[in-house]
Amino acid sequence: MSASAPTSSSSTAAEILTHVEAGVMTLTINRVARKNSITAAMYGAMADALENANHDAAVRVVVIQGHESIFSAGNDIGDFLNKPPSTADAPVFRFLRGISSFPKVIVAAVSGPAVGIGTTLLLHCDLVYAGDNAAFSLPFVNLGLCPEAASSFLLPQLMGYPRAAEALLLGEPFSAETALELGLINRIVPPLEVNALAQGQALKLAAKPLGALMETKRLMKKGNAGMVAERMAEEGVSFGRMLQEPAAREAFTAFMEKRRPDFSRF
Ligand code: COA
Repeated sequence: MSASAPTSSSSTAAEILTHVEAGVMTLTINRVARKNSITAAMYGAMADALENANHDAAVRVVVIQGHESIFSAGNDIGDFLNKPPSTADAPVFRFLRGISSFPKVIVAAVSGPAVGIGTTLLLHCDLVYAGDNAAFSLPFVNLGLCPEAASSFLLPQLMGYPRAAEALLLGEPFSAETALELGLINRIVPPLEVNALAQGQALKLAAKPLGALMETKRLMKKGNAGMVAERMAEEGVSFGRMLQEPAAREAFTAFMEKRRPDFSRF
């Protein structure tokens, strides 16, 4: 096992940090001034980090974390407006395929808002720990969009159709307590303790036989794997189209102009 100083992709300055120590690769979303919203370059760095972690024998477990005040505000809205992902090769889709098929265990530490992909990426993590300040939201419809990350399949499966419909159609934030009750997260702790808890669990996992962990994860995920890949591809086509449509353009422009969107024409 190797230990290394935090590193980051050159294209994203230090907005995605990775650090490997004692068998655990910690990936930190580090763009706090923009509420950890994620740009195409950051998705690319995250996809690369997962790919490297997959092949690096020194990595046995991955931890994904943000800041104690914000996990992620989801996709960078300026990117949605100016350079929306248009093909299946776009970094966001590469990241989603990578995380959804990642064979090693992923532990997530979530504090503060987790918006859009900040929540849906958790559906592809194995253990999720949350601060009591966590607020989860899936505002795709409010942005003129549809769900991604196979969340249109995984959320109804996880929490039942009525509760998934409430989360996805209304898009209102829900608390850590609700997320725990819905089965989205494993445990709630004070925000300043979340990262340490995730690290502690990751270290426990890293001490276990890797082959047994990976085979157990594979078997648990096997029933969904085909459907997840298929739904993610279908969502990606709709999402890419809807990003260009007037309702979404109005939503993004309204966000940038700090006003309420006007959907009366759509
Ligand atoms: N993309 C781009 N910039 C974003 C962003 C995003 N997703 N989320 C926040 N920011 C920017 C804000 O525009 C603001 O910029 P400014 O300082 O130039 O005005 C800065 O980050 C701080 O955000 P602010 O909204 O003032 O913080 P807050 O603490 O009041 O609220 C959130 C935090 C996450 C609840 C809120 O920022 C939010 O709802 N963001 C949009 C989430 C979203 O719709 N994401 C897309 C999901 S598909």
